[in-house]
Amino acid sequence: MMAPQVVSSPFLKPFFLKTPLSVGSSRRQRRHTLPASEFRNLTPQDAISVFEIEREAFVSVSGECPLTLDEVLSFLGQCPELSLGWFEEGQLVAFIIGSGWDKEKLGQEAMNTHVPDSPAVHIHVLSVHRQCRQQGKGSILLWRYLQYLRCLPSLRRALLVCEEFLVPFYQKAGFKEKGQSAISVGALTFTEMEYQLRGLAYARRNSGC
Ligand SMILES: CC(C)(COP(=O)(O)OP(=O)(O)OC[C@H]1O[C@@H](n2cnc3c(N)ncnc32)[C@H](O)[C@@H]1OP(=O)(O)O)[C@@H](O)C(=O)NCCC(=O)NCCS
Repeated sequence: MMAPQVVSSPFLKPFFLKTPLSVGSSRRQRRHTLPASEFRNLTPQDAISVFEIEREAFVSVSGECPLTLDEVLSFLGQCPELSLGWFEEGQLVAFIIGSGWDKEKLGQEAMNTHVPDSPAVHIHVLSVHRQCRQQGKGSILLWRYLQYLRCLPSLRRALLVCEEFLVPFYQKAGFKEKGQSAISVGALTFTEMEYQLRGLAYARRNSGC
């Protein structure tokens, strides 16, 4: 079996090896204690937890999940390094799943495609567990993810599509509107958003890449 991509490059930060967010007390915790807060790349073993959060978030609202369970499994198998999960005491509370994309704008085929070694990441889904929303977690996870992507040398841009009501949320995170997306799901239409990962040399120099 191939070694997992998450640890194969010196440029990729294996989140599971990083010190948990709340470092103060956790260093002295017993070994069997789960970290209070941990950020790491997801694996196919996380797919069920991912899908449960996703299903709750989307099915009751629009009837459609951005990713089916098979697509979650497929992306976490193909490009785990473009995902990020936030775990609290071992439970997934929020996640992002991305895949590689090589065209200027997102097209319908981007929904289930991963293009390896591409200059852009397509963020398929950001979702926070229902009980953890409105606490800043979505914004923090997105910020950490974008910082992490800056350390992946081939990436230049992050792209996503969202419904109109979430445009301000992504603008606050630094995304710019690119206009109406070519992607639609049933009657739902979307706005395409773009985040430039390059051109911030100062930020990169100081980001620990
Ligand atoms: C959207 C989402 C990721 C935000 O995460 P969060 O942790 O709740 O958000 P934060 O606490 O960091 O930020 C709150 C801000 O998010 C925005 N926001 C969140 N949900 C919103 C909604 N339903 N409508 C409009 N704005 C919303 C607002 O700007 C809000 O700021 P405000 O409270 O000052 O208005 C989360 O609500 C979620 O998982 N929703 C369901 C799944 C989803 O829609 N994902 C995005 C598309 S892939």
